[in-house]
Amino acid sequence: MSESPVIELSHVGIRFGPTVVHRDISFKVTAGETVTVMGPSGTGKTLILKSIIGLLAPTSGEVMVLGQSLRDKPEYELRKLRMQVGMLFQGAALFDSLSIYENIAYGLRETGTEDEDFIAEKVRSLLEMINLPGIEQKFPPQLSGGQKKRVGLARALATSPRIMLLDEPTTGLDPTSKRLIDDLIVCMNEKFGMTTIAVTHDIESATRISERWILLHDGQVVADGPARELAAHNQEAIDFIRGNWKDE
Ligand SMILES: Nc1ncnc2c1ncn2[C@@H]1O[C@H](COP(=O)(O)OP(=O)(O)OP(=O)(O)O)[C@@H](O)[C@H]1O
Ligand SMILES: [Mg+2]
Repeated sequence: MSESPVIELSHVGIRFGPTVVHRDISFKVTAGETVTVMGPSGTGKTLILKSIIGLLAPTSGEVMVLGQSLRDKPEYELRKLRMQVGMLFQGAALFDSLSIYENIAYGLRETGTEDEDFIAEKVRSLLEMINLPGIEQKFPPQLSGGQKKRVGLARALATSPRIMLLDEPTTGLDPTSKRLIDDLIVCMNEKFGMTTIAVTHDIESATRISERWILLHDGQVVADGPARELAAHNQEAIDFIRGNWKDE
């Protein structure tokens, strides 16, 4: 396994005019790791993921992905890099007017795959993996929230990315749907050996899917380490778990 990090944030600051969201965020994620980023609502978790896929340029600091700095990268190069990154957006963000088949095929078509038999087989096997076989011709509004998130995962996986970014994969779901998605995340990480960053404020999910937690608060990393250790000994983590942090 390569020692160089797959994702590295160095002193990242994100501001919108006078509003400072992130002051100084630094962390590294190495190949094959699954990391959970946690923090209260509005703390800037989604923005961190957006900076990693180059949808948002930080105000200061640097983001490196697969050994490349994203700073001043032209859009076509960012697009090339994004092909190696799968993202499940908050709320799944499926295209309501496209069938499930086309939603999952989307990334493949974007990256130039034209072989329809290949696409059909890929969609079929992904739907099987998320335990929703045969729903190719349905549309997103016909699915439940949990089912949409599973399809969102399948869509993110379709291009076999090396990096997976998951924004609130289980938030708002019932315990059974949550467990299903957590199990899927664990299973896909084992199966594909991806490097994964999941953002959540769901402690149960975070415990199930990752062994390392990064806690954000007030624009900084306030804890970063093995989940068990943080949950047992880190006061910031203990306060967060007990719900003693207020929203930003
Ligand atoms: N384009 C933007 N312009 C101005 N402010 C923004 C912009 N995008 C995000 N923000 C602000 O940055 C802060 C962090 O947003 P972000 O969406 O990253 O939070 P989050 O931690 O993902 O929250 P949640 O858990 O509710 O999803 C919020 O206060 C938000 O209003
Ligand atoms: Mg968010």
